[in-house]
Amino acid sequence: MANPVMSLILLFLSIVSIFLSSVSMADNAIFNVVQMGAKPNGKTDSTMSFLNAWKAACGSTKPATIIVPLGRYLVKQAHFRGKCNNKAITFRIDGTLLAPSNYNVIGNAGNYWLLFEGVDGVSIRGGNLDGRGAALWACKASSNNRPSGATNLAFVNSNNVAITGLTSLNSQMFHIVINGCNKVKVQAVKVLASGNSPNTDGIHVQLSSEVSILKTKIHTGDDCISIGPGTTNLWIQEIACGPGHGISIGSLGKDFKEAGVQNVTVKSVIFKNTQNGVRIKSLGRPSTGFVKNIIFQHTTMINVQNPIVIDQNYCPDNINCPGQVSGVKISDVTYGDIHGSSATEVAVKFDCSKGNPCKGIKLENVHLTYKNQLPAQASCDNVALTTSGLVQPDNCL
Ligand SMILES: *[C@@H]1O[C@H](CO)[C@@H](O)[C@H](O)[C@H]1NC(C)=O
Repeated sequence: MANPVMSLILLFLSIVSIFLSSVSMADNAIFNVVQMGAKPNGKTDSTMSFLNAWKAACGSTKPATIIVPLGRYLVKQAHFRGKCNNKAITFRIDGTLLAPSNYNVIGNAGNYWLLFEGVDGVSIRGGNLDGRGAALWACKASSNNRPSGATNLAFVNSNNVAITGLTSLNSQMFHIVINGCNKVKVQAVKVLASGNSPNTDGIHVQLSSEVSILKTKIHTGDDCISIGPGTTNLWIQEIACGPGHGISIGSLGKDFKEAGVQNVTVKSVIFKNTQNGVRIKSLGRPSTGFVKNIIFQHTTMINVQNPIVIDQNYCPDNINCPGQVSGVKISDVTYGDIHGSSATEVAVKFDCSKGNPCKGIKLENVHLTYKNQLPAQASCDNVALTTSGLVQPDNCL
């Protein structure tokens, strides 16, 4: 028998919830891409529906949510441009956006698949982005005459951005790019591509400030996170990286006149089976660039080929590096509580510029072994080092 008190309570609760949802609908404009014509079948080109949903959300004077229900949506190149009439647009993605299966469709055209440009207050919550890059990677391996490929997701010249719970799969090139932005939070993101895929950097940041990347898993074929010129106040914490090429500041010094990298904190990272752990690299040529106030802390290396690296003699194909002297000035870099195993004998390598030796490099409680059992080696050129606590290897201190 139904309990009348219980039924009354339930009735009351459902009235409250209807009331609350109508209130939240009232102050939020909702645009559902399926209602705007997108087809969740993985085959029908849904690009226009996404662009129309963006146009409506961007034109709305109140906060707007774009809903992408479960299902697979074929989307060609889509550029979501500001400036918008409100500063709170959320893309709530429950489904998967699929790039066209022919890599030429997005691979040649401007190098972005999904681009947000000049926006303020955009959040992406959830969703999978599948760049379907494998065919392009295979062609790149067998011939030079191929498109460079598109980045899955980029934010350019944008502020107050949040990317949460997104999965980026098989990008043709870089997965996520943050360029020319201020205040960006990337959290609980996953990046997945083959360990052999070329140029598939997980997250690339440049010319941006106040970016944080938290609780993110990256499994890819190039740098897990790459940090380009003009990056300041970057915070990276709780990252699992591998396979991949590690977390890199650089390559720097590509241009003679170049903005510096300043105040970067990287902490609580696990590198597993990666080519590098924490790396700073600059081309061996003149530049106004610099790297300063960097902290690498609480890091575990598991079978990492080059756990700690500064390479200022980087010169791909030995072209354009006169005298191999890097103009990039590196100072105040601290490595604290870094432990684990190197897959090669040289676990710490400081190969700094002859013309601009590295200054203020500190090692504090760094303990790295060679293959978990043998003592590892350090190699140091043109570097001023100090240490505290236990530091192993210690042969160049
Ligand atoms: C360095 O960056 C962090 C954010 O990553 C910020 O909280 C801190 O204030 C910055 N420090 C300086 C000296 O600018």
